[in-house]
Amino acid sequence: MVKFPSDFLWGGALAANQVEGAYAEDGKGLSVADVMTAGAHGVPRQITEGVQSDMYYPNHTAIDFYHQYPSDCELFAELGLKALRISIAWSRIFPNADDPEPNEAGLRYYDQLFDTLIARGMEPIVTLSHFEMPYALYQKYGGFRNREAINLFVRYAETVMTRYRGKVRYWMTFNEINNQFGGDDLLAWADSAIQFEADEDREEVIYQTSLYELIASARVVTLGHAIDPANQIGCMIAYSAVYPASSEPLDVLAAAQFMDRSYFYSDIHVRGKIPAATESIWQEKNYNFDLTKEDLTILATGTVDFIGFSYYMSKTVAAVKSEQDPNQLKGIKVVSNPHLVANDWGWEIDAVGLRVILKTLTDRYQLPLFIVENGLGAYDQLTEENEIHDSYRVDYLKQHIIEMSKAINEDGASVIGYTPWGIIDIVSFWTGEMEKRYGLIYVNRDNQGQGDLSRIKKASFTWYQKVIETNGREL
Ligand code: BG6
Repeated sequence: MVKFPSDFLWGGALAANQVEGAYAEDGKGLSVADVMTAGAHGVPRQITEGVQSDMYYPNHTAIDFYHQYPSDCELFAELGLKALRISIAWSRIFPNADDPEPNEAGLRYYDQLFDTLIARGMEPIVTLSHFEMPYALYQKYGGFRNREAINLFVRYAETVMTRYRGKVRYWMTFNEINNQFGGDDLLAWADSAIQFEADEDREEVIYQTSLYELIASARVVTLGHAIDPANQIGCMIAYSAVYPASSEPLDVLAAAQFMDRSYFYSDIHVRGKIPAATESIWQEKNYNFDLTKEDLTILATGTVDFIGFSYYMSKTVAAVKSEQDPNQLKGIKVVSNPHLVANDWGWEIDAVGLRVILKTLTDRYQLPLFIVENGLGAYDQLTEENEIHDSYRVDYLKQHIIEMSKAINEDGASVIGYTPWGIIDIVSFWTGEMEKRYGLIYVNRDNQGQGDLSRIKKASFTWYQKVIETNGREL
């Protein structure tokens, strides 16, 4: 039987840069998301030098949540949400990253947003950095390549945690901090506000920027507890269940090593220690990082209260063997899984994988878990009657909720809540499309920025309303 704790936080999730728009209003500075053009499936988004007049930037208007949040919050309340995950746009608070004083208009905006949520019975869950660092952090400091970024982040966090003391209890530091590991241009930009130079060792760069972020995160955890002992401060990791392509031992090893890429981050966040597997890699590759004794103490002290994570799909990996020694792993490649069906963007749908990862994390860390992103990106069809019959989305969410319940009731997972991603349609991160839709509320806007931005409740809205009302009993 599907069962959830009585205080379970049923919610929805958003990020400032993907919803707010108003990219240059009320003193906001440019963010790294503001210089990302629109792409499409298979067409990467460009990162431009500042804002170019002949380019289209979908995040500049997004869904205009900045102005429409009061009526959107009405809809969220009607849906019955008990929590809304949202991020603060850092560049609304410190437009130039190192301003002597924070921008009062930016602070006031989030005061109003949090007050609105609380008045409607929704707990704000706040990510401090969700792919939207100030562009000035890149221009003046080179982003998180620079140790000074730690101080700037801590100052920003201290400002907002002090201002919203008593209003916000749940915080997360860096969104999907582990995603940059693969050395992808867009993710390094989004996660760390850096661009790679030609011929540099990307892995080495990412380890260093990540270490600075992990130190910044640990300082904020310690500081956040001092500001308000009631604060619950978590990390945010992108997890996939990872399967070996076959029972061949090297494939199994490849799957385990693939997970190590995420464990580097979560082990430091949760245990405060660099995992041994990572230290071996650093030794083997002769990497030397700027990491002091004091940093190690900061990491050991500032461990998180919960693990927030996104889950969309599983990944299946195969070993790439060395030509000289067939028992030696030379690389790891991601392959498709014949047992799974992918969405239109190639993301393999796997609800059981959510249970697998919940069990894996429970066994490894014994810490509360918070599923802060999960959902199906799909093309929605508006009928002549202005309705959206998104049974595919209901099916996706339903299956994942069932597996989450099994993990809680049969595997001992302690799950704080579930906030499906893009509770209202938003700009896609990877492609910048509006038509890759996750929402239970439709927003009338297309990939070219056409549409009057009106909101329509989808069939999934009514379904999720019932789920929340019955605490998951009626699916
Ligand atoms: C996560 C991010 O990577 O996945 C979100 O935290 C993002 O910001 C989400 O939107 C889904 O990705 P996409 O590209 O489908 O929007």
